[in-house]
Amino acid sequence: MTKGLRKGLTSYGDAGFSLFLRKAFIKAAGYSDDALDRPIVGITNTHSDYNPCHGNVPQLIEAVKRGVMLAGGMPMVFPTISIAESFAHPTSMFLRNLMAMDTEEMVRAQPMDSVVVIGGCDKTLPAQIMAAASVDLPTIVVPVGPMVVGHHKGEVLGACTDCRRLWGQHRAGEIDEDEIEIVNGRLAPSVGTCMVMGTASTMACVTEALGLSLPMSASIPAPHAERIRSAEASGRRAAEMAVSGAPRPSELLTPSAFRNAAVVMQAIGGSTNGVIHLSAIANRTAHKLDLDLFDTLGRNVPVLVDLKPSGAHYMEHFHHAGGVPKLLKQLGDLIDLDAMTVSGQTLREIAAGAEDVPGQDVIRPRDNPIKPEGSMAVLSGNLAPRGAIIKHAAASARLLQHTGRAVVFESVEDMTSRVDDPDLDVTADDVLVLRNAGPKGAPGMPEAGYLPIPRKLGRQGVKDMVRISDARMSGTAFGTIVLHMTPESAVGGPLALVRSGDMIRLDVAGRRIDLLVDEAELARRQAALPVAPTPAWARRGYARLFHETVLQADEGCDFDFMVERGEG
Ligand code: FES
Ligand code: MG
Repeated sequence: MTKGLRKGLTSYGDAGFSLFLRKAFIKAAGYSDDALDRPIVGITNTHSDYNPCHGNVPQLIEAVKRGVMLAGGMPMVFPTISIAESFAHPTSMFLRNLMAMDTEEMVRAQPMDSVVVIGGCDKTLPAQIMAAASVDLPTIVVPVGPMVVGHHKGEVLGACTDCRRLWGQHRAGEIDEDEIEIVNGRLAPSVGTCMVMGTASTMACVTEALGLSLPMSASIPAPHAERIRSAEASGRRAAEMAVSGAPRPSELLTPSAFRNAAVVMQAIGGSTNGVIHLSAIANRTAHKLDLDLFDTLGRNVPVLVDLKPSGAHYMEHFHHAGGVPKLLKQLGDLIDLDAMTVSGQTLREIAAGAEDVPGQDVIRPRDNPIKPEGSMAVLSGNLAPRGAIIKHAAASARLLQHTGRAVVFESVEDMTSRVDDPDLDVTADDVLVLRNAGPKGAPGMPEAGYLPIPRKLGRQGVKDMVRISDARMSGTAFGTIVLHMTPESAVGGPLALVRSGDMIRLDVAGRRIDLLVDEAELARRQAALPVAPTPAWARRGYARLFHETVLQADEGCDFDFMVERGEG
């Protein structure tokens, strides 16, 4: 097999000359023949001044390079785009597939025998793993790691579950202008990803469960020395993989690996976004994430990890309690422990090596779970024929069975302009409905599903209401919130048919979300739906590609032409 600089040579009949040219140019950077004759490990650089979550990437790159060289390989760093949650307009989800394409094509285009992808902020690990699955070159993932916690008035704070809670208190008049400014500087006290069980932490744990990263790599805090050593070890391993050509992502991303990832997602109280990302990753392989299976697993897998937003602790506490290896040990036969990992060990060996931490209560045993059932449920019903998701572990128990009057917002803009209107006709028992916020509708399925409690109700002390939408929600949010209503309203899904005043029934035990309007009336409304013209934002460029080809949430919101249509 061709390796190193010889990989992917376009010889045009004279391979010797092509290699001669390639070497001549790379020698401009000062490399010796000895360096250029080694197996090459590519390393993605997703550092950006716009991405504080990736603030430690330069340090991690240095450590990975050191590991590669200690093991006799040749590291080559190359840039890919960087997506930071808070700066990605219109949404980071809009850009995830662009990052997946960029990463895939750069890995394909340049000579490398294995690749280390370094990422972490929300959509970046999913994008990188989607790319890795499609290229199928030996790949190891190095997450940037979670931030350490913040402190305020003796209270522990985390981005950004507490951002929402404290902002809510500020809106309700409980925290004044000066104090909220102080809090603002304490919510995200270091580089790294959000340290609650949001999307970034969820995907880092899922990555470890899929066997794509080294043990403990999901949880080591971003600023810790151990994080750097883990990056060095990942570099060493990548150099070995460059020589052996194994394992490839296709050897690790098996049906049981996806099942394991789904179990872990339920047991950690994971982010709802994780379901979309895991579907997208699976669809890049010959396998699929079955949403019915995901729901069934959820009924039998307890929530064992006590992290915000559904629990009490933060990622560094999860780490000090034993991290993913300890969780795998506690899950025991709910996991296929024979699954292989990029470390060369099976999950069984990794679980056996988990540290026992006396007195820790962050990763519970199965006979003392946080919740007896998993964190997420998949709903269907006449309002979501292809499914919807609720993170019931982060919802109000009293609202899980609820019938209420719909209060409809046509779009994110409509909601923004009316939700705080003192004249809005709304009570705490109503169901807030947001539409035109799905993959095509908004575009990019913004995290607008966490509809704010109308200010006049918030002032009366209302903390939660049933809220439904075709949007997503930040993994760090809390509430009785039904998301990813599929198909979305912008493509004529039934959410488009709801009118203010209609009754909506949420029945989480029965796994249903229904509009209590008779079928004949719904058919009339469907027939009267106007055909939407192509929106102005979708006329050209990447936005046009996105609008024309993005799949619905149940298929992972990848582009239709990127999906591997394999068996099963
Ligand atoms: Fe980057 Fe939360 S903003 S992980
Ligand atoms: Mg997020």
